[in-house]
Amino acid sequence: MKRIVLGVSAGIAAYKSVLLLRLLREAGHHVDVIPTGNVANFVGNATWEALSGNPVTSNVFDAVDTVNHVRLGQQADLVLVVPATADILARAASGLADDLLTGTLLATRAPVVMAPAMHTEMWQHPATVANTAVLRERGVRVIEPASGRLTGKDSGPGRLPEPDQIFESIQDLLSEPILAGRKVLITAGGTREPLDPVRFLGNRSSGRQGVALAQAARDAGAQVTLIATHLEVPAPHGVELVHASSALELREAVFAHAERQDALIMNAAVADFRPATIEGSKIKKRDEHSAPVIELVRNPDILAEIVCARGANDQLPPVIVGFAAETGDDQGSVLDYGRAKLARKGCELLVVNEVGANLTFGTDSNTVQVLFADGKPAVGAAGSKIEVARVVIGQLAAEINGHVADAK
Ligand code: CTP
Repeated sequence: MKRIVLGVSAGIAAYKSVLLLRLLREAGHHVDVIPTGNVANFVGNATWEALSGNPVTSNVFDAVDTVNHVRLGQQADLVLVVPATADILARAASGLADDLLTGTLLATRAPVVMAPAMHTEMWQHPATVANTAVLRERGVRVIEPASGRLTGKDSGPGRLPEPDQIFESIQDLLSEPILAGRKVLITAGGTREPLDPVRFLGNRSSGRQGVALAQAARDAGAQVTLIATHLEVPAPHGVELVHASSALELREAVFAHAERQDALIMNAAVADFRPATIEGSKIKKRDEHSAPVIELVRNPDILAEIVCARGANDQLPPVIVGFAAETGDDQGSVLDYGRAKLARKGCELLVVNEVGANLTFGTDSNTVQVLFADGKPAVGAAGSKIEVARVVIGQLAAEINGHVADAK
C-alpha cells in the first residue's frame, strides 16, 4: 500500500482523474486528492472525498493544525498531478507555493509524475516546452500527452492519456522498490584532463544519462552514491554526491567508494589519454606561427582495473556495468564492437549506445542494447534518458538479485 497524493489541476480532463482515483483505490492505495481551486468547475469535492475516502481541500488554511501544506507532501510515497495544465507546469517549474498543491510539490521528496493535458498550441508553446524541460531535468516524470480529439472539434497532441494507460505507466512506482536495501555507485559526466591552469581536454558528455540512472536507481529504492565529473545538468536530490574532475581523480573516488556496494555503474565518459605534463603556468604563444605539440599518455582503464581488483577483494561490487559509446563501420556493427568490449572489460553488463554527431551526447533521448556476460539475450531500450535508465536499472536489479540468490 502506497500513500499517494493525487493533484488535480483545472482542466476538463479532470473527469479522467476520477477513474484513475478508482484504479488506485482498487489496487489498495491510500489516496489524498488535492484539487486546485478551479477544479470544482469540472468535478466537485464530494466526488473526490467519496472515492478517496479522505477529506479534500485546495485551501492551505484548512486543517492548519496538521500543517497540511507540508504534511501531505512529506508523508507521500508518490505525488501525481493528473491532469497537469500549462498553468500548474509553469507554477511548479517556478517553485511557487501559493496553494495546497504547489506547496505539496515543494515539500515532497517522493517521486512526482505529471500528466499534462491542454490544447496543442499551449503544449507546444515555448514557455510550456521550457517548463516541461525544467521539471524533467529536476526528476519529475512528465508523461507525454496522447494525440487525438481535444475539448473542441480540434485534435492533436495534448490529450490526457486514458486512466488505465497512466495507471500502467506508473506501475514501477506503485510496486515494492526493486532495489530496496541495495547500494549503487554511479559515475556520470565527462572527465577533464588538465593541460595548464586554464585549459583542459574534455569530451561532449553532458552527464544526462548518468543523472537519469541515479534518479532511476533512487526511485527503485537504492541508496545511491553519484560520482559526478563534469555535469551540465543538476544532480538529483536524494543521492550522495561526490565530485571528481580528471580520470585519475575519478579512479581514486571510485576505489574509495566501491567497497560494500551492490553494484557499480561506470557511465562516465573517461578520457583515454591525458597530457603527459600539466604546465604550471599558461602555455603562451612563443612567436607568430608556431604552436605547441602536446604529448599524451594513456589513462588507466578504471572499469577494467576494478573488475580485475575484485579477484583479490570480495568487498568490491559483484555487479559492474560498463557503458560503450560505439560507432559501427565496415569492419563491424555497433553490437559487434559492444560484444568484444564486454569480453575485454570483464564486467557483468555492458550498455551499448551508438554515438555520432547528433546522437546521444547532449541529447534528451537514447537507444541502447544491454549486453550480458552470462550470454543472456540482449535487451533493447529506446526513449528519453530516464526511460532508458529505468530499463537498465530493471536489468541491474535482476542481476543483483541473481547474485544474492547464488551466494545463498
Ligand atoms: N572507461 C574507464 N576508464 C577509461 C575509459 C573508459 O573506466 N579510461 C569505462 C567507461 O566508463 C565505460 C567503458 O569503460 O563504462 C567503455 O568506455 P569507452 O570509451 O567506450 O571504451 P574504451 O575501452 O575506451 O574503448 P575505445 O577504444 O572504443 O574508446
